[in-house]
Amino acid sequence: MSLASLLDRAEAAFTNAGIETPRVDAELLAAWMLGISRGELQSGLITDSIAFDEAQTLQFETLAARRAEREPLQHLTGVAHFRNITLQVGKGVFVPRPETEWVTGLAIDAVKACANPEPIVFDLCAGSGAIGLAIATEIPNAQVIGVEKSADAFGYTSRNYAKLAPTNGRAILADVADTPNDLDGKVDVVISNPPYIPAQMVPIYPEVALHDPGLALYGGEDGLDVVRVVADVAARLLHPGGTLIIEHADMQGEAVRHLLLDKGWTQVRTHQDFNSRDRSVSAVRSH
Ligand SMILES: C[S@@+](CC[C@H](N)C(=O)[O-])C[C@H]1O[C@@H](n2cnc3c(N)ncnc32)[C@H](O)[C@@H]1O
Repeated sequence: MSLASLLDRAEAAFTNAGIETPRVDAELLAAWMLGISRGELQSGLITDSIAFDEAQTLQFETLAARRAEREPLQHLTGVAHFRNITLQVGKGVFVPRPETEWVTGLAIDAVKACANPEPIVFDLCAGSGAIGLAIATEIPNAQVIGVEKSADAFGYTSRNYAKLAPTNGRAILADVADTPNDLDGKVDVVISNPPYIPAQMVPIYPEVALHDPGLALYGGEDGLDVVRVVADVAARLLHPGGTLIIEHADMQGEAVRHLLLDKGWTQVRTHQDFNSRDRSVSAVRSH
């Protein structure tokens, strides 16, 4: 069967399975197998200059069947693209999301505005290391430390840190609450994308509900259990005037603002994402 027909068949199967971007997923899977970009795949199809051999056809059909069962595309390919970096991901680690790329941009702006020529940044709840490693690679003079509690996730955190930030990044396996205190009062920016889904709100997408680890998703009854700990730990890490940025769910903007104001944070501001939804908060450690 031609590659074009295989793609059409996968697209139809993905559509039936309720996948929202069936053509994109089929093309990304085929492009990954061929070691080319999606754009290169599309032009190769137009010029009829690419094809699968028999083994590749079988492999594509096997992987497409798994995707139709709603296994995340990134688990099949083992990689996730995030801003300018490519991370290793798979079972046991949270797949980084596009909205977090945008929240990371807020942290990057804050780090670039630091007076410290070698700004110190903590990424609490690091997962694959996506946020901290984007910062470490986009701002090479920053020192970035990622903290992750899950031993399964930490395998990815530490491998990604070793590969992408071997000189200016460090990954620590710890509960946020036990973040080492050697840099207390010296940190310029703390960013976190913690688990924030309320315990009773199971996500509708099977990719999330069945394949993202529960520890990465759920944050207690109101979703804010880990946010509270992050706020307390950030207050001890940051120097006065240092910046905290936290991603949260769209309905949590007001609750998170109040939580931070009650804890004495200043300049507490909610930021909306590209869909005009409350998505993150920034705050400054008081003097
Ligand atoms: C929503 S995921 C975010 C991962 C990554 N920062 C990203 O944006 O892709 C939350 C992460 O926090 C970790 N985590 C949950 N509770 C934690 C805690 N108490 N201390 C440290 N990490 C925690 C989870 O294992 C998971 O990797």
